[in-house]
Amino acid sequence: MNRIVSSARLAPNIFHLAVEAPEIARAVRPGQFAMVIPDEKGERIPLNIADWDEERGTIDLVFLNLGVSTRKLAAFQAGDSVEGIAGPLGQPVEIRNFGEVLLIGGCYGLAGLYPIARELQQAGNKVLFLSEARSPAFIYWEEKNKKFSDRYLTLFRSDCFSSGQELEDKIRELKSEQSGLSLVMVIGCSYLLFKVSEATARIGLKTLVCLNPIMVDGTGMCGACRVSVDGQTRFACVDGPWFEGHSLDWKEYFIRRKAFLEQEEQALVNLDKEFWKKME
Ligand SMILES: Cc1cc2nc3c(=O)[nH]c(=O)nc-3n(C[C@H](O)[C@H](O)[C@H](O)COP(=O)(O)OP(=O)(O)OC[C@H]3O[C@@H](n4cnc5c(N)ncnc54)[C@H](O)[C@@H]3O)c2cc1C
Ligand code: FES
Repeated sequence: MNRIVSSARLAPNIFHLAVEAPEIARAVRPGQFAMVIPDEKGERIPLNIADWDEERGTIDLVFLNLGVSTRKLAAFQAGDSVEGIAGPLGQPVEIRNFGEVLLIGGCYGLAGLYPIARELQQAGNKVLFLSEARSPAFIYWEEKNKKFSDRYLTLFRSDCFSSGQELEDKIRELKSEQSGLSLVMVIGCSYLLFKVSEATARIGLKTLVCLNPIMVDGTGMCGACRVSVDGQTRFACVDGPWFEGHSLDWKEYFIRRKAFLEQEEQALVNLDKEFWKKME
């Protein structure tokens, strides 16, 4: 069991938990994730480790309340405990001086990018941070992210599933202004990862995306997180979650991402029924 030290709502549907996990806090590197089990009946879900405090022995998790597991996590308060956390998992991002790096975050990605911005800047990079959201209400950790950004920008899209043209225009604009820009890193929903990859392929900018396929064990044994990169099979939990966005088979990725949609929706209905039964 891991005790929750603090809990907060950061944006309309985005929550933060600081959780005791001293061994993970000691070992984690930017870009890694943890598998979190909310309660004894819960499944394991992957969440980026958005920050950590080695002295206090805590890690920070920021998540979108989507389905059963994240709804359970969103209900936790300081003093409660989650059933278990395994980590740090996955490959950390490479930290070295690339020159100028553009970090693009949406949704929970505004938090996941924070330790990456911090360490890239400390390694001598010029960090450009672009927060993408539906409206200002969905922007959080602005002060934290600004602290380690040489330029901090926001982009608001009225429709999450828009063509991505505004994104492409913004990246083109930044590329023309920042002559040393050589790398883009993205964390957020699958659609954002895909749209940025499409745009940067046209612009000619290397792009690393933090993929979020369905994961079961998180240790390379079940195959649930299988993706194809340059025609090769890779497991996002052990080989990733960071991959070159221009080399990924996005069609296969989206098909596999939706594989359990019906079951996920039914699980949410069942959770609601359980809740109302308790109220009777
Ligand atoms: C390496 C990695 C790191 C991740 N880090 C974070 C993080 O820091 N914060 C965070 O909020 N999430 C993160 N995710 C995604 C997160 O694991 C899922 O959102 C979570 O498993 C959903 O569980 P659930 O039971 O609440 O919802 P589910 O019941 O699994 O899903 C509910 C509904 O949402 C849809 N859905 C689920 N996940 C996504 C998604 N990623 N994009 C679009 N639609 C989706 C489902 O298809 C379903 O319709 C990460 C995923 C990976 C692989
Ligand atoms: S989650 Fe099982 S192999 Fe990656």
